[in-house]
Amino acid sequence: MTTPPTPGLSGVPSRAPASAPASSDSRTATFRVWRGDATGGAFHDYPTETSTGMVVLDAIHQIQADQANDLAVRWNCKAGKCGSCSAEINGKPRLMCMTRLSDLSLDAPVTVEPMRAFPLVKDLVTDLSWNYRVKKQITKFTPRPPDAPDGTWRIQQADVDRVQEFRKCIECYLCQDVCHVIREHHEQDTFIGPRFFVYAAALEMHPLDIADRIPALKREHGIGFCNITKCCTSVCPENITITDNAIIPLKERVVDEFYDPLGKLVKLFSRAHRG
Ligand code: SF4
Ligand code: SF4
Ligand code: FES
Repeated sequence: MTTPPTPGLSGVPSRAPASAPASSDSRTATFRVWRGDATGGAFHDYPTETSTGMVVLDAIHQIQADQANDLAVRWNCKAGKCGSCSAEINGKPRLMCMTRLSDLSLDAPVTVEPMRAFPLVKDLVTDLSWNYRVKKQITKFTPRPPDAPDGTWRIQQADVDRVQEFRKCIECYLCQDVCHVIREHHEQDTFIGPRFFVYAAALEMHPLDIADRIPALKREHGIGFCNITKCCTSVCPENITITDNAIIPLKERVVDEFYDPLGKLVKLFSRAHRG
C-alpha cells in the first residue's frame, strides 16, 4: 500500500467554538488532498473559496461538490461527536469538522490526508475494523451481585466521577493514529492502543465491576509498550487525560498485581469480598 508522507505530529487540536461570527470575508485557499487507494495515490491541489466560520470539512465538501465528486470522505455529525471525520491536517491528527480555517494559515496549501496508522480504503477514508476487533478482546462489564434485595446497587458519587471522563470518548481513533507503537512499530497484534486503555480503565475503575483485566493488559494487550510519551493525550478532541488518568493507573495496577505479592493478596481479598 502506498501511504502519504509523514509530516510532524506536534500540536494539540482545539475544540472550535460552537458558533462562528457571520462574515462575508472570503478568499481562495488551496487544499492539498490525498487521493488514492490501497494501490497508491498522490496529493492533488484544489483551490476553493473560503469564508469566515468554515471548518476543513466544509472545504472538503465544497471540493467534493464542485471539483471532485468522487472524493471519498467519512463524516456524520459535523459537531465533533461521531468521531467519523478523523484525518491528518497539516500533519496533525484532528477532526475535520472541528478544525476552523481561521486556526490555519491559508497562505500555503492546507494538507488533508487520511490517518496513516490504518489501511487506506480510498482518499480520506481508512479501514478502522482492527479497532472493533480489539474492543471485542477486552472483558466486558462484569457487575457484582446487587447490594439490595430489589436488585439495586449502592455506589459513591466520587467513584462514578472518576470514570466519567473516560466515557466522553467518541472513538475517533486519533489517539491510535498518533501512537508510535501502532503508527511506526505496527504492533497491532500485541498492543491495543490508547483508546482501549481508556476503555479498559473505565471498566477496571468502575465501582461495580469485579472482572480482572490486569493480566490481559500485561500479557496480551501490551501495556508495557507504552512509554508514556503523551502524544495520545495531546490529540484527543475530548481532552481525555489518557496517559495520566487511564494508562498510568493501569500500569500501576500491573505492578501491584505482578510485582507486589502483598498488594496482590489485598486485591484478591478485596475482589472476593465485593463478589
Ligand atoms: S502515551 Fe503510550 S499509548 Fe499514548 S501515544 Fe505514547 S506510547 Fe502510545
Ligand atoms: S480517547 Fe480521545 S482521541 Fe482516543 S478515540 Fe477517544 S476521543 Fe478519540
Ligand atoms: S463529523 Fe462527526 S466528529 Fe466530525
